[in-house]
Amino acid sequence: MKLSPEEARRRIEELREEIEQHNYNYFVLNQPTISDAEYDKLLRELQQLEEQFPQFKSPTSPTQRVGAPPQTEFKTVKHSIPMLSLANAFSDDEVREFDARVKKLAEIDKIEYVAEPKFDGLAVELVYEDGVFVLGSTRGDGETGEDVTQNLKTIKSIPLRLRQPKDLPIPRRLEVRGEIYMEIADFRKLNEEREERGEPLFANPRNAAAGSLRQLDPKITAQRKLHIFCYDVGQTVGITFRTQEELLRTLPRYGLRVCPIYRVCKNIDEALEFYREMQERREELPYEIDGVVIKVNDFEIREIVGEVSRNPRWAIAYKFPPKQATTRVKDIVVQVGRTGKLTPVAVLEPVPLGGVTVQHATLHNQDEIEKKDIRIGDWVLIQRAGDVIPEVVQPIVSRRTGTEKKFTMPERCPVCGDRVVRLPDEVDYRCVNISCPARLKESILHYASKGAADIEGLGERWVEALMNAGLVKEIPDLYKLKERVIELVRLERMGPKLAENLLNAIEKSKKISLARFIYGLGIRHVGERLAELLAQRFRTLDALMNASEEELLQVEEVGSTVAQSIISFFQDERNREMIRKLREAGVQIIEEVSPQKAGALAGKTFVFTGTLKTLTRGQAEALVKAAGGRVSSSVSRKTDYVVAGEEPGSKLQKARELGVTVLSEEEFLKLVKT
Ligand code: IVH
Repeated sequence: MKLSPEEARRRIEELREEIEQHNYNYFVLNQPTISDAEYDKLLRELQQLEEQFPQFKSPTSPTQRVGAPPQTEFKTVKHSIPMLSLANAFSDDEVREFDARVKKLAEIDKIEYVAEPKFDGLAVELVYEDGVFVLGSTRGDGETGEDVTQNLKTIKSIPLRLRQPKDLPIPRRLEVRGEIYMEIADFRKLNEEREERGEPLFANPRNAAAGSLRQLDPKITAQRKLHIFCYDVGQTVGITFRTQEELLRTLPRYGLRVCPIYRVCKNIDEALEFYREMQERREELPYEIDGVVIKVNDFEIREIVGEVSRNPRWAIAYKFPPKQATTRVKDIVVQVGRTGKLTPVAVLEPVPLGGVTVQHATLHNQDEIEKKDIRIGDWVLIQRAGDVIPEVVQPIVSRRTGTEKKFTMPERCPVCGDRVVRLPDEVDYRCVNISCPARLKESILHYASKGAADIEGLGERWVEALMNAGLVKEIPDLYKLKERVIELVRLERMGPKLAENLLNAIEKSKKISLARFIYGLGIRHVGERLAELLAQRFRTLDALMNASEEELLQVEEVGSTVAQSIISFFQDERNREMIRKLREAGVQIIEEVSPQKAGALAGKTFVFTGTLKTLTRGQAEALVKAAGGRVSSSVSRKTDYVVAGEEPGSKLQKARELGVTVLSEEEFLKLVKT
């Protein structure tokens, strides 16, 4: 159907409004009302119309969130009102002093506060002129920041146009301030992907958010999952706020995302109470916070108390006790990983840190140790960043006594005694022996892990016990365990019940999807995602095993290092032998369906909750993938089906709330068979 220009213009307007409404429902209200497929359909229709009728293109169209060309540098932006920073408090006493100061300056003895989480991201300013997002900048030094408008536009919780509230005008100018952050789960995923690709890791979610926002190519920013919480305004024309509470209630009505967690406090005691509650809830939040910000609610009082040396006197950041600690390095030992990589690890005097006792911290590699000059016997500052493994930040040089010893990488593998090499262009040292027990242990653990064969209950402790007892030397031995039940049961703390469970779990893992199998092999540089791409491309294990470099390079995300790694893995006779043994032991690789059959569930997303009776999670997921579907771990409006087994969790609840179709195990099996 061909539309007249006038009809097209009207439809384009309609679509833009509808899409922004859905963005708002989803990203600001957290209450999606349509499925992802429906959303994508609207967006595609809009894109097509804008192509056909370029005269109606507009920079505020939802299609314009991505697509700006890379820049060569960021322009600087002067903030019309400086972006101040907050003074910190580290104790209740300091907060009470702050309260006393405010009361004295304002000459009032009752002050109301608003307490908010202190988000650990980076501050930005968004400028809206007549409701249109025209400029976005980083805080910079507070006076001038960088123009990151194009990057901010890729963040869907930032409206390109303000919503029109029923009884409020759109202000002539509104400068909104807030924090850009990345959720912890997305930070971890990003780092896993980077590790697979051999790229440097981000130290914590804040660095990841900052690194993602300060990309010259907005396409990269668009791939990172960033969010905003708005909490302040700069210059405003055509709107005034009298209190922080009013500000936090009003911004969402314009479509600006505000964190729902905050409290209006009658006095400082209530603010301190909020601080304690947040300290408790901190670990439950999907994002990192490093304290609580306590702000005078009334803007007139703020005027009166003013500011001093770049800090407002009407607000204070009450920081949580740091996730950093000092302790001593008792020793530096070397761990050997699945790929033979030697990782130096500091053995520490045990020290409490963020709720756990830390005894080890990674030192990453030799270069890192040299750069930071960490020695055995040193007092060091350690930290847990974004909940990753603790790391040593720096030695405390002033506490040295002269007895500290420098560390050098061993020339022989500490586990098997074989040679250690460092390849050119690599920071890591590796053990050359692919049968090194340390590598075998790690490779068995990797094969049994969730994303691979998913053998429940087979963790580090049992793998070690099995290896020490001589029951398992390499992965295929797992499938021969059932012939050695008596010895298995006799393992310390094993017993008949656990042994049975373990054997059942191993038996269940015999049916495995090609992607999981490839991942489980533990080929260097081949993570879960790439394994999936390889499975889709080659469809059978034999095809992958015989693939040439050229063929491998055709796969998205495979470069020559990765291709070489795959080829040399399959060229190694020991690896081919292992695969043969696995097949002999009855491991059945569910290879991808043929192209004409593909698509029974193409594009459909499944989420599983509860325990299935006849299938393991891994098998159920393999069935979905084999039919072209996708499996996700959380329910959202993107989910097509939730499959509920016995004792389903909160995901079922969420599915019902969102109106996602819920299937029983039987219904699911029927669906995959059709
Ligand atoms: S209000 C001067 N509220 O803390 C007050 N800031 O040191 C303006 N921050 O640059 C900021 N959470 O990056 C405010 N709820 C919150 C905040 C917050 C985090 C950051 C922000 C700012 C820094 C001030």
